[in-house]
Amino acid sequence: MPIEFTLNRDPIAAPDDKAEMPLLWFLREDMRLKGTKFGCGIGQCGACTVLSNGSAVRSCVMRVADAKGLSIVTIEGLASGERQLHPVQQAWIETDVAQCGYCQSGQILSAVALLNRSPNPTDADIDAAMTNLCRCGSYVRIRKAVKAAAL
Ligand code: FES
Repeated sequence: MPIEFTLNRDPIAAPDDKAEMPLLWFLREDMRLKGTKFGCGIGQCGACTVLSNGSAVRSCVMRVADAKGLSIVTIEGLASGERQLHPVQQAWIETDVAQCGYCQSGQILSAVALLNRSPNPTDADIDAAMTNLCRCGSYVRIRKAVKAAAL
């Protein structure tokens, strides 16, 4: 039986022989959505973060089968149109957050998930929720951008 779920607002049916594949690899290799990054592969770094029903999940430790019935959103599906960025994406640009950029899609999706459940997060909320690693150390700008997006 195909595994049915929603990916970036479109219904899809993944072949059942993909059931045990990490969602990260299905997104990158089968769906060609390369914005979701591989970092550690063990659920630690957050580079592979996507939204699952609005919450941040690490797709390297989630099987395709686990996505059944869920709404999965990757960075490619976050904007509502070609010219309409998500407010968090806009805040990221205006705050000039990215340095090398590798971790940023995961950071942005973690920020969206945080703001979905806590529209006006405190510094402590941001620090607790934003556990994605950034080798460039852009954490101060990330916190600033989350606050800007929350306004
Ligand atoms: Fe998934 Fe690091 S690649 S958490």
